[in-house]
Amino acid sequence: MSAFDFSELSPQERYKMLCAAVIPRPVAWITTIDADGIVNAAPYSFFNVFAETPPLVIVGIDQRVGGGRKDTIDNVEAVGEFTVNLADSALAEKMVATAATFPPGVSEPSVVGLPLEAGTKVRVPRLADAPISLECRLFELKPLGQRYLLMGEVVALVARDGLFDPATKRLNVEHYDPVARLFATSYAKLGPAYELPVPDWTSLMPDAKS
Ligand SMILES: Cc1cc2nc3c(=O)[nH]c(=O)nc-3n(C[C@H](O)[C@H](O)[C@H](O)COP(=O)(O)O)c2cc1C
Repeated sequence: MSAFDFSELSPQERYKMLCAAVIPRPVAWITTIDADGIVNAAPYSFFNVFAETPPLVIVGIDQRVGGGRKDTIDNVEAVGEFTVNLADSALAEKMVATAATFPPGVSEPSVVGLPLEAGTKVRVPRLADAPISLECRLFELKPLGQRYLLMGEVVALVARDGLFDPATKRLNVEHYDPVARLFATSYAKLGPAYELPVPDWTSLMPDAKS
């Protein structure tokens, strides 16, 4: 085994190792609007769901290269709402293109050619082609080291028809092809799904009394 003492590594080395160790990561393709209503889109893979009551998503947002806040932070703070769109493989190239460092006020969806759809519960539009979008209200925005921890309360989930069964709320995983982020410029697709129920503990310890 090789142990790496994180106190002896540079921030870049820590970033590199953490990003490589924790894979695959989902990507939050976040749409926001600025005070003039211009729509911004950018991908963030320091992202996950956190809770269901309240229903929270969390995102780690760094500073711009060279310093200063990213547009997503300015917009979320100004408007108090954002939408997490989930990209599938068909959208991967456009998703990555929206990570280019455009100046504030440039609308990535219009540059890259991404149609928008009005939000159902928030003023922020979602990406019409995204298979799933999570409409969020700002829950907390907390500076943490050089990053911001962005927490959003999900107020609506909008999904392409056929992805979720309206009665059972189950996902039809065969129809979902989310982009998985690896590291640097590498991405992956989901492999085949398989079932693995958690066993009852007594089946693993047949001699123990329950
Ligand atoms: C797949 C992918 C994932 C990314 N994840 C993050 C992330 O988790 N945090 C971050 O600060 N930047 C991340 N970035 C970089 C931002 O997308 C990039 O800085 C973008 O220009 C920010 O846009 P904005 O200023 O419009 O918010 C990622 C880029 C890509 C391509």
